[in-house]
Amino acid sequence: MKIAINIPLVGKEEISVVTSILRDGALTSAANQGGKYVQKFEKSVSTFVKSKYAIAVNSGTAALQASLYALDIKKGDEVLLPSFTFVATANAVVSTGAKPVFVDILKENYTINPDDLQKKITKKTRAIIPVHLYGNVANIERLSEISKKNNIPIIEDSAQSLGSTYKGKHTGTFFEMGCYSMYPAKVMTSGEGGFIVTNNKKLRDKLLMIRNHGMVHGYDTKVFGLNLRLPEISAAIATIQMKKLPGFLKARKNNAKLLSKLISDLKIQLPQQRKNENVNWYLYTISTNKRDVILKALNKKGIGAASYYPIPVHKTPFYKLKTKLPITDWSAKHVISLPIHPNVTKNNIEYIAKTMRDIL
Ligand SMILES: Cc1ncc(COP(=O)(O)O)c(C=O)c1O
Repeated sequence: MKIAINIPLVGKEEISVVTSILRDGALTSAANQGGKYVQKFEKSVSTFVKSKYAIAVNSGTAALQASLYALDIKKGDEVLLPSFTFVATANAVVSTGAKPVFVDILKENYTINPDDLQKKITKKTRAIIPVHLYGNVANIERLSEISKKNNIPIIEDSAQSLGSTYKGKHTGTFFEMGCYSMYPAKVMTSGEGGFIVTNNKKLRDKLLMIRNHGMVHGYDTKVFGLNLRLPEISAAIATIQMKKLPGFLKARKNNAKLLSKLISDLKIQLPQQRKNENVNWYLYTISTNKRDVILKALNKKGIGAASYYPIPVHKTPFYKLKTKLPITDWSAKHVISLPIHPNVTKNNIEYIAKTMRDIL
């Protein structure tokens, strides 16, 4: 048996739209508003997350970069973010010339620790990027309080949390901007791709310029920008995936529920949902002090369990920082994510649970 941790789920509809776009020949558009499929996709996103605007770009990394450019983050500025994330969050900050300042996380759900965040705010802090890791929602109330008190904007890294809500409101829509990724391992995909959501018209207009070399009508660069445009083929695939997303999320939820039921008596920390939180189950992550043994044994049995992330960003060779982040370090040594994507069957879940039980 081979069970992957996450797989792209594309079908006939996606294949057919790709063929028709190739036949038609309109592969991209450098117009300010983007091409026909890009606009259609943006509409589907803003309807789903209930944001006023969505701006499609060509990766989650580009979404983060564009958001930072939109806030004019630059050299001499500091941006606060967790180190327990995919490195893209930090790399996007570095690309602006600003300094990433790493904040510790909470043991219960691996999201940014508001107390440590507050402590690390300085006169130079210009933005905060909480990450809704694994689909878990960061502490919205505390973030809101800190942001207001210190007058610092927040960019939500929602790359992993499309579909996660808190009090019925979607992650990515709580603050200035929310950034998402459509990398194939995510809950829906366009191959490569990303998008930003916002309720602020000024930011939306600026983001539209930023994704297209700062232009509005062409050859009239008004702000710094790059080519961050999403190809029409990717936008069309993504629109179909958005239609399928509620079904994907339902299947993930059912799998997570069953898995929790079957392994709840084991001596491990199960994923913890907070009150009013509804997660998208992008990754079902447990923690255990026998991590390496369990991970190896699961992989040997064909179960694509994985550790996200075994090396926190601040300890990678490029960053190599001595910042003390005890829970980040602890998590990097204890977490395992188990497969629960929509194609994982009831049989697969029972097999994963039994294998876990045998190992422990
Ligand atoms: C938390 C986080 N931030 C940012 C990204 C970057 O997205 P992308 O790979 O689409 O550039 C990812 C995903 O890869 C991610 O998981």
